[in-house]
Amino acid sequence: SASLPQGYQLRALRRSDYDSGFLDCLRVLTTVGDISEEKFQKQYDNMVAREDYYIIVIEDTNREKNSVVATGALIVEHKFIHSLGKVGHIEDIAVAKDQQGKKLGLRLIQALDFVAEKIGCYKSILDCSDANEGFYVKCGFRRAGLQMAHYY
Ligand code: ACO
Repeated sequence: SASLPQGYQLRALRRSDYDSGFLDCLRVLTTVGDISEEKFQKQYDNMVAREDYYIIVIEDTNREKNSVVATGALIVEHKFIHSLGKVGHIEDIAVAKDQQGKKLGLRLIQALDFVAEKIGCYKSILDCSDANEGFYVKCGFRRAGLQMAHYY
């Protein structure tokens, strides 16, 4: 894509991405835990079978190892309201620390937004910290409502 740095490519997550740097990207976001390759693939298969998970990555093809440097996900929720409407949930946006500030985050959101609109979502929503509000405002989002959580 012309909008990414030279040699960078945006693509769907693959079953073979266990060792690609994908999980390391997610580690900038939160705890990932110790996942075996077998469990990674099983989870991947579950998500692909659902057809409502769009997990994308940005890969720096100049690199031989750990070439995945950013990731993000869109999960589609199906509703009865709004004439059987669909809502996009943007989740787990993560850019490797040394790759931040190159517009990779923006490109991820643009790509997920494009998919959400194309498949007929009437909105996309996400939760973020106050520290990330400015980033999402630059991506075209605005503050709406209040997040609540019940952790188990
Ligand atoms: N506050 C204000 N503005 C910001 C911020 C911020 N925290 N981060 C980036 N911006 C601005 C940039 O300056 C840029 O502005 P410009 O167009 O005027 O130059 C614009 O937003 C786009 O920035 P990118 O370069 O695309 O940002 P980056 O690639 O670094 O991605 C991200 C931003 C995803 C927040 C990244 O820094 C990151 O992975 N952080 C750690 C993990 C994280 O917090 N993820 C988001 C969790 S919320 C969720 O997943 C729904």
